[in-house]
Amino acid sequence: MSAVIAVENHSPLNVEEIRKDFPILSREIHGKPLIYFDNAASAQRPSAVIDATHDFYSRRNANIHRGVHTLAEEATALYEQARQTMARFINAPSDRNVVFLRGVTEGVNLVSQAFVRPRVKPGDQILVTHLEHHSNIVPWQLLAKQTGVELKVVPMTQAGELDMDAFHGMLNERVKLLGVVHVSNALGTINPVADMVKAAREFDIPVLVDGAQATPHMAVDVQAFDCDFYCVSGHKMYGPTGAGILYGKSRWLEEMEPYHGGGEMIKHVTFEESVFNEPPAKFEAGTPNIAGGIGLGASARYLLDVGLDRIREYEAGLLAYATEAVQQVEGLRIIGTARDKASVISFTLEGIHPHDLGTILDHSGVAIRTGHHCAMPIMQFFEVPATSRMSLAMYNTRDEVDQFVAALNKARDILA
Ligand code: ALA
Repeated sequence: MSAVIAVENHSPLNVEEIRKDFPILSREIHGKPLIYFDNAASAQRPSAVIDATHDFYSRRNANIHRGVHTLAEEATALYEQARQTMARFINAPSDRNVVFLRGVTEGVNLVSQAFVRPRVKPGDQILVTHLEHHSNIVPWQLLAKQTGVELKVVPMTQAGELDMDAFHGMLNERVKLLGVVHVSNALGTINPVADMVKAAREFDIPVLVDGAQATPHMAVDVQAFDCDFYCVSGHKMYGPTGAGILYGKSRWLEEMEPYHGGGEMIKHVTFEESVFNEPPAKFEAGTPNIAGGIGLGASARYLLDVGLDRIREYEAGLLAYATEAVQQVEGLRIIGTARDKASVISFTLEGIHPHDLGTILDHSGVAIRTGHHCAMPIMQFFEVPATSRMSLAMYNTRDEVDQFVAALNKARDILA
Protein backbone atom coordinates (compact mmCIF):
# COMPACT_ATOMS: atom_id res chain seq x y z
CA MET A 1 0.00 0.00 0.00
CA SER A 2 1.30 3.44 -0.86
CA ALA A 3 -0.69 6.17 0.81
CA VAL A 4 1.53 8.98 -0.38
CA ILE A 5 1.79 10.50 -3.79
CA ALA A 6 4.92 12.25 -4.99
CA VAL A 7 4.21 15.80 -6.06
CA GLU A 8 6.35 18.49 -7.56
CA ASN A 9 7.55 21.50 -5.55
CA HIS A 10 6.47 20.25 -2.14
CA SER A 11 6.88 17.10 -0.12
CA PRO A 12 4.00 14.61 -0.25
CA LEU A 13 1.34 14.48 2.41
CA ASN A 14 2.22 12.00 5.13
CA VAL A 15 -1.15 10.38 5.72
CA GLU A 16 -0.02 8.22 8.66
CA GLU A 17 1.13 11.34 10.51
CA ILE A 18 -2.11 13.14 9.64
CA ARG A 19 -4.16 10.23 10.98
CA LYS A 20 -2.47 10.56 14.38
CA ASP A 21 -3.96 14.06 14.65
CA PHE A 22 -7.53 12.71 14.57
CA PRO A 23 -8.31 10.80 17.80
CA ILE A 24 -11.61 9.37 16.50
CA LEU A 25 -9.84 7.46 13.74
CA SER A 26 -8.59 4.93 16.28
CA ARG A 27 -12.18 3.97 17.20
CA GLU A 28 -13.67 0.62 16.37
CA ILE A 29 -17.24 0.23 15.12
CA HIS A 30 -18.85 -3.20 15.62
CA GLY A 31 -15.39 -4.53 16.42
CA LYS A 32 -13.87 -3.25 13.15
CA PRO A 33 -11.56 -0.27 12.64
CA LEU A 34 -13.59 2.79 11.65
CA ILE A 35 -13.41 3.65 7.96
CA TYR A 36 -14.91 7.10 7.80
CA PHE A 37 -16.11 7.90 4.28
CA ASP A 38 -18.84 10.38 5.24
CA ASN A 39 -16.67 13.47 5.20
CA ALA A 40 -18.94 15.51 2.93
CA ALA A 41 -21.66 15.28 5.60
CA SER A 42 -19.25 16.28 8.36
CA ALA A 43 -15.50 15.75 8.60
CA GLN A 44 -13.71 14.64 11.79
CA ARG A 45 -11.82 17.07 14.07
CA PRO A 46 -8.06 17.10 14.65
CA SER A 47 -6.69 17.53 18.19
CA ALA A 48 -5.77 21.10 17.24
CA VAL A 49 -9.46 21.98 16.97
CA ILE A 50 -10.54 19.93 19.99
CA ASP A 51 -7.76 21.48 22.09
CA ALA A 52 -8.56 25.04 20.98
CA THR A 53 -12.19 24.60 22.01
CA HIS A 54 -11.23 22.89 25.25
CA ASP A 55 -8.72 25.63 26.05
CA PHE A 56 -11.36 28.30 25.52
CA TYR A 57 -13.91 26.68 27.80
CA SER A 58 -11.47 25.56 30.46
CA ARG A 59 -9.26 28.67 30.66
CA ARG A 60 -10.71 31.70 28.91
CA ASN A 61 -14.49 31.49 28.76
CA ALA A 62 -16.18 34.88 28.77
CA ASN A 63 -18.36 36.94 26.45
CA ILE A 64 -16.55 38.95 23.77
CA HIS A 65 -16.48 42.64 22.79
CA ARG A 66 -18.16 43.57 26.06
CA GLY A 67 -16.11 43.18 29.24
CA VAL A 68 -12.91 44.90 30.32
CA HIS A 69 -11.75 42.04 32.54
CA THR A 70 -8.91 39.71 31.59
CA LEU A 71 -11.02 36.77 30.47
CA ALA A 72 -13.20 38.96 28.27
CA GLU A 73 -10.14 40.49 26.65
CA GLU A 74 -8.48 37.11 26.07
CA ALA A 75 -11.68 35.64 24.61
CA THR A 76 -12.13 38.67 22.33
CA ALA A 77 -8.52 38.49 21.16
CA LEU A 78 -8.82 34.78 20.34
CA TYR A 79 -12.07 35.29 18.45
CA GLU A 80 -10.67 38.16 16.39
CA GLN A 81 -7.47 36.21 15.71
CA ALA A 82 -9.69 33.45 14.32
CA ARG A 83 -11.34 35.99 12.03
CA GLN A 84 -7.91 37.07 10.79
CA THR A 85 -6.97 33.44 10.16
CA MET A 86 -10.16 32.91 8.16
CA ALA A 87 -9.36 36.00 6.08
CA ARG A 88 -5.92 34.57 5.35
CA PHE A 89 -7.45 31.15 4.63
CA ILE A 90 -9.59 32.45 1.76
CA ASN A 91 -7.25 35.34 0.88
CA ALA A 92 -9.80 38.02 1.74
CA PRO A 93 -8.40 41.57 1.56
CA SER A 94 -9.19 42.14 5.25
CA ASP A 95 -10.73 40.45 8.27
CA ARG A 96 -13.46 43.14 7.94
CA ASN A 97 -14.73 41.12 4.97
CA VAL A 98 -15.33 38.07 7.16
CA VAL A 99 -18.70 37.69 8.89
CA PHE A 100 -18.94 34.89 11.44
CA LEU A 101 -22.19 32.96 11.28
CA ARG A 102 -23.45 29.39 11.54
CA GLY A 103 -22.46 28.13 8.11
CA VAL A 104 -23.33 28.21 4.44
CA THR A 105 -27.08 28.00 5.01
CA GLU A 106 -27.09 31.13 7.12
CA GLY A 107 -24.75 32.87 4.68
CA VAL A 108 -27.05 32.29 1.72
CA ASN A 109 -30.12 33.37 3.71
CA LEU A 110 -28.31 36.54 4.81
CA VAL A 111 -27.34 37.46 1.25
CA SER A 112 -30.82 36.63 0.00
CA GLN A 113 -32.63 38.79 2.54
CA ALA A 114 -30.15 41.58 3.26
CA PHE A 115 -28.52 42.02 -0.14
CA VAL A 116 -30.82 40.75 -2.89
CA ARG A 117 -34.28 41.41 -1.47
CA PRO A 118 -34.03 45.22 -1.45
CA ARG A 119 -32.58 45.21 -4.99
CA VAL A 120 -35.20 43.18 -6.89
CA LYS A 121 -38.65 43.63 -8.41
CA PRO A 122 -41.11 41.15 -9.93
CA GLY A 123 -39.76 39.65 -13.14
CA ASP A 124 -36.10 39.90 -12.08
CA GLN A 125 -34.19 36.64 -12.01
CA ILE A 126 -31.97 34.66 -9.66
CA LEU A 127 -29.74 32.17 -11.45
CA VAL A 128 -28.61 28.98 -9.72
CA THR A 129 -27.37 25.68 -11.12
CA HIS A 130 -28.74 22.16 -11.18
CA LEU A 131 -25.84 21.13 -8.93
CA GLU A 132 -26.94 23.16 -5.91
CA HIS A 133 -27.48 21.87 -2.41
CA HIS A 134 -30.91 22.75 -0.96
CA SER A 135 -29.22 25.56 0.99
CA ASN A 136 -28.65 27.42 -2.29
CA ILE A 137 -32.14 26.69 -3.64
CA VAL A 138 -34.70 27.08 -0.86
CA PRO A 139 -33.66 30.60 0.30
CA TRP A 140 -34.19 31.80 -3.28
CA GLN A 141 -37.60 30.14 -3.46
CA LEU A 142 -38.56 31.98 -0.28
CA LEU A 143 -37.32 35.20 -1.86
CA ALA A 144 -39.31 34.46 -5.02
CA LYS A 145 -42.50 34.20 -2.95
CA GLN A 146 -41.69 37.44 -1.15
CA THR A 147 -40.69 39.52 -4.17
CA GLY A 148 -41.87 37.92 -7.41
CA VAL A 149 -38.35 37.17 -8.69
CA GLU A 150 -38.00 34.09 -10.90
CA LEU A 151 -35.61 31.27 -10.11
CA LYS A 152 -33.72 30.07 -13.20
CA VAL A 153 -31.58 26.94 -13.25
CA VAL A 154 -28.45 26.34 -15.32
CA PRO A 155 -28.82 22.77 -16.66
CA MET A 156 -26.23 20.02 -16.34
CA THR A 157 -25.10 17.15 -18.51
CA GLN A 158 -25.29 13.40 -17.86
CA ALA A 159 -21.73 13.61 -16.54
CA GLY A 160 -22.89 16.05 -13.85
CA GLU A 161 -21.09 19.03 -15.41
CA LEU A 162 -22.74 22.38 -15.98
CA ASP A 163 -23.86 23.08 -19.53
CA MET A 164 -21.70 26.14 -20.03
CA ASP A 165 -23.27 27.11 -23.38
CA ALA A 166 -26.65 27.19 -21.70
CA PHE A 167 -25.15 29.17 -18.81
CA HIS A 168 -23.81 31.87 -21.11
CA GLY A 169 -27.19 32.05 -22.86
CA MET A 170 -28.98 32.62 -19.55
CA LEU A 171 -27.01 35.71 -18.54
CA ASN A 172 -28.90 38.96 -19.05
CA GLU A 173 -29.69 42.26 -17.29
CA ARG A 174 -32.66 40.79 -15.44
CA VAL A 175 -30.42 38.38 -13.47
CA LYS A 176 -29.75 40.01 -10.09
CA LEU A 177 -27.62 37.28 -8.57
CA LEU A 178 -25.81 34.14 -9.66
CA GLY A 179 -25.55 31.48 -6.94
CA VAL A 180 -23.19 28.62 -7.71
CA VAL A 181 -21.77 25.76 -5.71
CA HIS A 182 -17.98 25.50 -5.93
CA VAL A 183 -17.90 21.71 -5.41
CA SER A 184 -21.07 19.60 -5.57
CA ASN A 185 -21.69 17.70 -2.34
CA ALA A 186 -23.70 15.01 -4.14
CA LEU A 187 -21.46 14.38 -7.18
CA GLY A 188 -18.10 15.99 -6.43
CA THR A 189 -18.12 18.14 -9.60
CA ILE A 190 -15.80 21.15 -9.35
CA ASN A 191 -17.42 24.07 -11.12
CA PRO A 192 -15.43 26.65 -13.15
CA VAL A 193 -16.25 29.40 -10.67
CA ALA A 194 -13.68 31.96 -11.90
CA ASP A 195 -14.94 31.67 -15.50
CA MET A 196 -18.53 31.99 -14.34
CA VAL A 197 -17.78 35.12 -12.32
CA LYS A 198 -16.01 36.63 -15.31
CA ALA A 199 -19.00 35.99 -17.55
CA ALA A 200 -21.44 37.34 -14.95
CA ARG A 201 -19.38 40.55 -14.67
CA GLU A 202 -20.28 41.45 -18.25
CA PHE A 203 -23.85 41.90 -17.07
CA ASP A 204 -22.94 43.34 -13.63
CA ILE A 205 -24.38 40.26 -11.94
CA PRO A 206 -23.12 39.71 -8.38
CA VAL A 207 -22.00 36.15 -7.67
CA LEU A 208 -22.38 34.11 -4.48
CA VAL A 209 -20.32 30.92 -4.20
CA ASP A 210 -21.23 28.04 -1.88
CA GLY A 211 -17.81 26.85 -0.77
CA ALA A 212 -18.92 24.23 1.79
CA GLN A 213 -17.33 21.29 -0.02
CA ALA A 214 -14.36 23.16 -1.45
CA THR A 215 -12.48 24.50 1.57
CA PRO A 216 -11.39 21.09 2.99
CA HIS A 217 -9.94 20.05 -0.37
CA MET A 218 -8.32 23.00 -2.15
CA ALA A 219 -6.90 26.48 -1.69
CA VAL A 220 -9.58 29.13 -2.10
CA ASP A 221 -8.71 32.66 -3.20
CA VAL A 222 -11.75 34.90 -3.19
CA GLN A 223 -9.82 37.77 -4.74
CA ALA A 224 -8.67 35.61 -7.64
CA PHE A 225 -12.26 34.44 -8.14
CA ASP A 226 -13.44 38.03 -7.83
CA CYS A 227 -16.73 36.67 -6.42
CA ASP A 228 -18.97 38.97 -4.39
CA PHE A 229 -19.80 36.48 -1.64
CA TYR A 230 -18.23 33.17 -0.60
CA CYS A 231 -19.80 30.93 2.07
CA VAL A 232 -17.88 28.50 4.29
CA SER A 233 -19.11 25.85 6.77
CA GLY A 234 -16.69 24.96 9.57
CA HIS A 235 -17.61 21.33 10.12
CA LYS A 236 -16.85 20.36 6.52
CA MET A 237 -13.28 21.65 6.96
CA TYR A 238 -12.50 19.80 10.20
CA GLY A 239 -13.87 22.60 12.39
CA PRO A 240 -16.85 22.81 14.76
CA THR A 241 -20.49 22.53 13.74
CA GLY A 242 -22.55 25.71 13.86
CA ALA A 243 -19.58 27.89 12.93
CA GLY A 244 -18.88 29.30 9.49
CA ILE A 245 -18.16 32.50 7.65
CA LEU A 246 -19.57 34.64 4.90
CA TYR A 247 -17.01 36.55 2.86
CA GLY A 248 -18.44 39.67 1.24
CA LYS A 249 -16.92 42.48 -0.79
CA SER A 250 -16.61 45.62 1.33
CA ARG A 251 -18.92 47.76 -0.77
CA TRP A 252 -21.73 45.24 -0.42
CA LEU A 253 -21.26 44.68 3.30
CA GLU A 254 -21.30 48.42 3.84
CA GLU A 255 -24.38 48.91 1.68
CA MET A 256 -26.39 45.98 3.06
CA GLU A 257 -28.94 46.44 5.82
CA PRO A 258 -28.59 44.16 8.86
CA TYR A 259 -30.42 40.83 8.82
CA HIS A 260 -30.78 40.29 12.57
CA GLY A 261 -31.16 43.09 15.10
CA GLY A 262 -29.88 42.90 18.66
CA GLY A 263 -26.84 43.37 20.82
CA GLU A 264 -23.39 44.10 19.42
CA MET A 265 -24.57 45.02 15.90
CA ILE A 266 -25.30 48.61 16.99
CA LYS A 267 -23.37 51.78 17.79
CA HIS A 268 -26.23 53.55 19.51
CA VAL A 269 -29.84 52.74 20.43
CA THR A 270 -32.77 54.87 21.55
CA PHE A 271 -36.45 53.93 21.47
CA GLU A 272 -36.76 56.11 18.39
CA GLU A 273 -33.95 54.65 16.30
CA SER A 274 -30.70 52.69 16.20
CA VAL A 275 -27.39 53.43 14.51
CA PHE A 276 -25.75 50.25 13.27
CA ASN A 277 -22.19 49.10 13.74
CA GLU A 278 -19.68 48.77 10.89
CA PRO A 279 -19.40 45.42 9.10
CA PRO A 280 -18.79 42.69 10.00
CA ALA A 281 -20.29 43.47 13.47
CA LYS A 282 -23.42 44.80 11.74
CA PHE A 283 -24.29 41.20 10.81
CA GLU A 284 -23.34 39.54 14.09
CA ALA A 285 -26.22 40.30 16.45
CA GLY A 286 -26.22 38.57 19.83
CA THR A 287 -23.56 36.56 21.60
CA PRO A 288 -21.93 34.47 18.88
CA ASN A 289 -20.66 30.89 18.89
CA ILE A 290 -17.36 32.00 20.43
CA ALA A 291 -15.82 28.57 20.94
CA GLY A 292 -17.02 27.63 17.45
CA GLY A 293 -15.32 30.61 15.85
CA ILE A 294 -12.09 29.92 17.73
CA GLY A 295 -12.27 26.24 16.73
CA LEU A 296 -12.90 27.23 13.12
CA GLY A 297 -9.79 29.41 13.16
CA ALA A 298 -7.85 26.43 14.53
CA SER A 299 -9.09 24.20 11.70
CA ALA A 300 -8.05 26.77 9.10
CA ARG A 301 -4.60 27.07 10.71
CA TYR A 302 -4.31 23.28 10.69
CA LEU A 303 -5.18 23.10 6.98
CA LEU A 304 -2.77 25.92 6.12
CA ASP A 305 -0.02 24.12 8.06
CA VAL A 306 -0.65 20.81 6.28
CA GLY A 307 -0.84 22.67 2.94
CA LEU A 308 -3.89 22.84 0.71
CA ASP A 309 -1.90 22.05 -2.45
CA ARG A 310 -0.48 18.97 -0.79
CA ILE A 311 -3.96 17.91 0.30
CA ARG A 312 -5.37 18.42 -3.18
CA GLU A 313 -2.63 16.35 -4.78
CA TYR A 314 -3.04 13.53 -2.30
CA GLU A 315 -6.82 13.44 -2.55
CA ALA A 316 -6.75 13.55 -6.36
CA GLY A 317 -4.65 10.37 -6.34
CA LEU A 318 -6.91 8.74 -3.77
CA LEU A 319 -10.06 9.64 -5.73
CA ALA A 320 -8.61 8.20 -8.95
CA TYR A 321 -7.65 5.02 -7.11
CA ALA A 322 -11.10 4.69 -5.50
CA THR A 323 -12.92 5.42 -8.77
CA GLU A 324 -11.02 2.61 -10.46
CA ALA A 325 -11.50 0.25 -7.53
CA VAL A 326 -15.26 0.62 -7.02
CA GLN A 327 -15.89 0.08 -10.71
CA GLN A 328 -14.76 -3.52 -10.25
CA VAL A 329 -17.87 -4.16 -8.12
CA GLU A 330 -20.57 -5.89 -10.18
CA GLY A 331 -23.71 -3.79 -10.72
CA LEU A 332 -22.14 -0.57 -9.44
CA ARG A 333 -22.92 2.61 -11.40
CA ILE A 334 -21.16 5.86 -10.60
CA ILE A 335 -23.48 8.86 -10.64
CA GLY A 336 -21.50 11.96 -11.58
CA THR A 337 -18.52 11.47 -13.86
CA ALA A 338 -17.34 15.05 -14.35
CA ARG A 339 -13.77 15.53 -15.60
CA ASP A 340 -12.93 17.76 -12.64
CA LYS A 341 -14.06 16.21 -9.36
CA ALA A 342 -13.16 16.39 -5.68
CA SER A 343 -13.34 13.54 -3.20
CA VAL A 344 -16.87 12.25 -3.82
CA ILE A 345 -18.09 9.06 -5.46
CA SER A 346 -21.87 8.72 -5.58
CA PHE A 347 -23.15 5.39 -6.83
CA THR A 348 -26.01 2.95 -7.07
CA LEU A 349 -25.71 -0.81 -6.71
CA GLU A 350 -28.13 -2.74 -8.89
CA GLY A 351 -31.06 -4.23 -6.98
CA ILE A 352 -29.95 -2.86 -3.60
CA HIS A 353 -31.45 0.10 -1.77
CA PRO A 354 -28.77 2.56 -0.59
CA HIS A 355 -30.13 2.56 2.97
CA ASP A 356 -29.79 -1.25 3.19
CA LEU A 357 -26.27 -0.96 1.86
CA GLY A 358 -25.38 1.77 4.36
CA THR A 359 -26.61 -0.38 7.25
CA ILE A 360 -24.68 -3.47 6.15
CA LEU A 361 -21.50 -1.45 5.55
CA ASP A 362 -21.76 -0.02 9.06
CA HIS A 363 -21.34 -3.58 10.37
CA SER A 364 -17.99 -3.64 8.57
CA GLY A 365 -17.00 -0.40 10.30
CA VAL A 366 -17.61 1.70 7.17
CA ALA A 367 -19.50 4.99 7.42
CA ILE A 368 -20.98 6.36 4.19
CA ARG A 369 -24.01 8.57 3.55
CA THR A 370 -27.03 7.20 1.75
CA GLY A 371 -30.01 9.26 0.63
CA HIS A 372 -30.61 12.38 -1.44
CA HIS A 373 -27.72 14.33 0.11
CA CYS A 374 -29.88 17.47 0.46
CA ALA A 375 -29.76 17.74 -3.32
CA MET A 376 -33.07 16.25 -4.46
CA PRO A 377 -33.05 17.93 -7.90
CA ILE A 378 -29.84 16.03 -8.70
CA MET A 379 -31.53 12.75 -7.79
CA GLN A 380 -34.50 13.73 -9.96
CA PHE A 381 -32.17 14.45 -12.89
CA PHE A 382 -30.58 11.00 -12.67
CA GLU A 383 -33.98 9.40 -11.94
CA VAL A 384 -32.84 7.73 -8.73
CA PRO A 385 -34.49 8.15 -5.31
CA ALA A 386 -31.12 8.10 -3.55
CA THR A 387 -27.47 7.22 -3.98
CA SER A 388 -24.77 5.82 -1.77
CA ARG A 389 -21.92 8.26 -1.37
CA MET A 390 -18.34 7.73 -0.30
CA SER A 391 -16.73 11.07 0.43
CA LEU A 392 -13.00 11.09 1.09
CA ALA A 393 -10.78 13.25 3.27
CA MET A 394 -7.05 13.80 3.59
CA TYR A 395 -6.83 11.11 6.30
CA ASN A 396 -8.31 8.33 4.18
CA THR A 397 -6.04 5.74 2.59
CA ARG A 398 -5.89 3.33 -0.34
CA ASP A 399 -5.93 0.51 2.16
CA GLU A 400 -9.30 1.76 3.44
CA VAL A 401 -10.56 1.92 -0.14
CA ASP A 402 -9.55 -1.74 -0.63
CA GLN A 403 -11.37 -2.73 2.56
CA PHE A 404 -14.40 -0.72 1.44
CA VAL A 405 -14.52 -2.56 -1.88
CA ALA A 406 -14.31 -5.89 -0.04
CA ALA A 407 -17.15 -4.78 2.25
CA LEU A 408 -19.19 -3.70 -0.79
CA ASN A 409 -18.76 -7.13 -2.40
CA LYS A 410 -19.75 -8.80 0.85
CA ALA A 411 -22.81 -6.56 1.20
CA ARG A 412 -23.82 -7.31 -2.39
CA ASP A 413 -23.60 -11.06 -1.71
CA ILE A 414 -25.84 -10.67 1.36
CA LEU A 415 -28.41 -8.29 -0.17
CA ALA A 416 -28.60 -9.14 -3.88
N1 ALA B 1 -24.72 18.73 2.99
C1 ALA B 1 -24.28 17.62 3.78
C2 ALA B 1 -24.00 16.41 2.94
O1 ALA B 1 -23.63 16.54 1.82
C3 ALA B 1 -25.13 17.36 4.94
O2 ALA B 1 -24.10 15.31 3.42
